[in-house]
Amino acid sequence: MNNQDGAYILQVQGLNVFYGSFQAVNNVSFDVKPGEIFGLLGPNGAGKTSTLSAVEGLLKPQGGSITVAGYNAKEKPLYARAAMGVQLQATSFQPELTVAEILQLYAGIYGVSMTKEKLRDILTDINLADAESKKFGELSGGQQQRVSLIISTIHDPRLVLLDEPTSGLDPQSRRRLWERIEAIRERGHGVLITTHSMEEAEAVCDRIAIIDHGRIITIDTPQALIEKHRNDPEVISVSRRGKITLEDVFIALTGRAIRS
Ligand SMILES: Nc1ncnc2c1ncn2[C@@H]1O[C@H](COP(=O)(O)OP(=O)(O)O)[C@@H](O)[C@H]1O
Ligand SMILES: [Mg+2]
Repeated sequence: MNNQDGAYILQVQGLNVFYGSFQAVNNVSFDVKPGEIFGLLGPNGAGKTSTLSAVEGLLKPQGGSITVAGYNAKEKPLYARAAMGVQLQATSFQPELTVAEILQLYAGIYGVSMTKEKLRDILTDINLADAESKKFGELSGGQQQRVSLIISTIHDPRLVLLDEPTSGLDPQSRRRLWERIEAIRERGHGVLITTHSMEEAEAVCDRIAIIDHGRIITIDTPQALIEKHRNDPEVISVSRRGKITLEDVFIALTGRAIRS
């Protein structure tokens, strides 16, 4: 398939990732549709970052196929990568550069024009209008995450990959970041995101895959997952206050609490 406007922005089929003889990702398959926020949830060490890294082309998978915006990542790696925006688990920019300098630098790298006006619009949009000449290193965690999200989407990619963008943020910053992520969905683009926060996933993700020990345990909408498992004895035994949440389902399916 090579249609750029196909039903999927990302298709992952039978993905395997090894580190030496250790298999971190085991036969993982899922897809992301246009206008969808797809959450990859799992405890630490489940294989989330390894899966994203393979999609991003940062590591070479030992098996399976990855198709981004209709481009097979093995056959057309440059086209596949051009359709992606990536925010790594630990993204950091030169702390001495100002916000304006960083945005201009990356606009240049991606070949996107960045006038003074456009720069100001972008910063206003992410509530950083007064931070233009602040150094990146002086921003709060939430502000840094917003800048790095903007940079990962500066070329308006069809697929955005975000690895735990909200971890370590206060509730207001999380809320703002999620608004930005929802705006990407509204543009009809696809978002693949990993998060530890079941509450956020339940509220924002259109579909979720729960992954553990490198394998996908289940894929569905948050609501359907809760419905499907609400009468499981393990789910009932971990739930509190009678209301079944996605977190209860997650803990029951992975057999343990979310490790931070
Ligand atoms: N570069 C690496 N070399 C060896 N093992 C790794 C490497 N990166 C990750 N792993 C292992 O692979 C498994 C999955 O890691 P990772 O994909 O980072 O999980 P997650 O992002 O879900 O926390 C873990 O057991 C981890 O220790
Ligand atoms: Mg990770």
